[in-house]
Amino acid sequence: MLRTLPRPPFIDVVVHESVHPEALAAELREGLVEGEVATRQHYLSARQARLWREIALAFSPARNDEDGARAYDAVNGLLADRLAGDGAHVIGLGCGDGAKERRMLDALAGSGPLTATAVDVSLPLVQVAVDRLGGAAGTALGRPVVCDLGLAAADLPAMVGEAPGPRVVSLYGILPGMEAFSAMASALALLRPGDLLAVSANLLPAGEGSLEAVIAQYDNGPTRRWLGALVEDAGIEEGLADVRIGELSDPGTGAAAAVGAWLEPREELELELEAGGVRLEPGSPVRLLRSARHTPEGLEAIVQAAGLELLALEVSPTGEEGVALAAAPTG
Ligand SMILES: C[S@@+](CC[C@H](N)C(=O)[O-])C[C@H]1O[C@@H](n2cnc3c(N)ncnc32)[C@H](O)[C@@H]1O
Repeated sequence: MLRTLPRPPFIDVVVHESVHPEALAAELREGLVEGEVATRQHYLSARQARLWREIALAFSPARNDEDGARAYDAVNGLLADRLAGDGAHVIGLGCGDGAKERRMLDALAGSGPLTATAVDVSLPLVQVAVDRLGGAAGTALGRPVVCDLGLAAADLPAMVGEAPGPRVVSLYGILPGMEAFSAMASALALLRPGDLLAVSANLLPAGEGSLEAVIAQYDNGPTRRWLGALVEDAGIEEGLADVRIGELSDPGTGAAAAVGAWLEPREELELELEAGGVRLEPGSPVRLLRSARHTPEGLEAIVQAAGLELLALEVSPTGEEGVALAAAPTG
């Protein structure tokens, strides 16, 4: 059961320049002009954060105790054995609501001094994560960080700071939406020799129809409402554009397949955005989302390409979720 503590009246947050409103507004405009909106644009507002949490609860295999959660729990058990009293500084990169890091901290209770640091591009999600992580028994909270993992990698060590024990960096739910090289670079910026990385991937289970089943996890009301928040905020009224969800032909480096979502204007649209005007044309769709699926071998290759030693790779019973545990070499 989750232990909740009274929420403090304020939290001390580190905010990186990569999430300055001007940078975010310029990125949104540029994405619409160039036909590809950055994943992070779907998590920024309190409404987007709430809508994403609803989807994660409804559809994420990782939150199913009979499936994805087992892979995370297996890695948590290995971590608890390995730390054996040294404690750890758990750093959740792209932690969202912090549910997976909370589960990790609960599994590590009694393993020595624990510190937890939430890192995400979304301030509302960081605030929810802080609530969760702060409730873990025997855990001190590090200063949470709001930043873009890709743009702020070099500043992560200074922003995250020092805490007792080895660092355990989690990179959960990030590989689907971010290029693997960039996501891993943010983790590598924090890993010192002997530190640990837990990284997950949404997998494409073997067998006919598996991609269709994955597409169905995206082509549904809650996901459309989540993506629709950005469309509405851009000033596109209902009926002026459609959102199409389907297979993406270019899944990205190291991925086996990907699901995409595209905004398809029904007519010419002139948008007045904070960062300037944009014209969208029918027949020129804008990609709103790319969600990549990997194979266990692909996840292993990503870990090894980063120069890390793979300690374990746990796959959930349905084959939909993979979690790798890796160590930074000591010499
Ligand atoms: C699919 S959610 C996964 C959240 C959580 N780790 C989990 O597994 O449930 C992706 C998370 O990454 C964050 N995110 C997306 N792009 C990011 C970026 N460029 N930098 C930092 N965080 C990012 C989002 O705000 C969101 O919390």
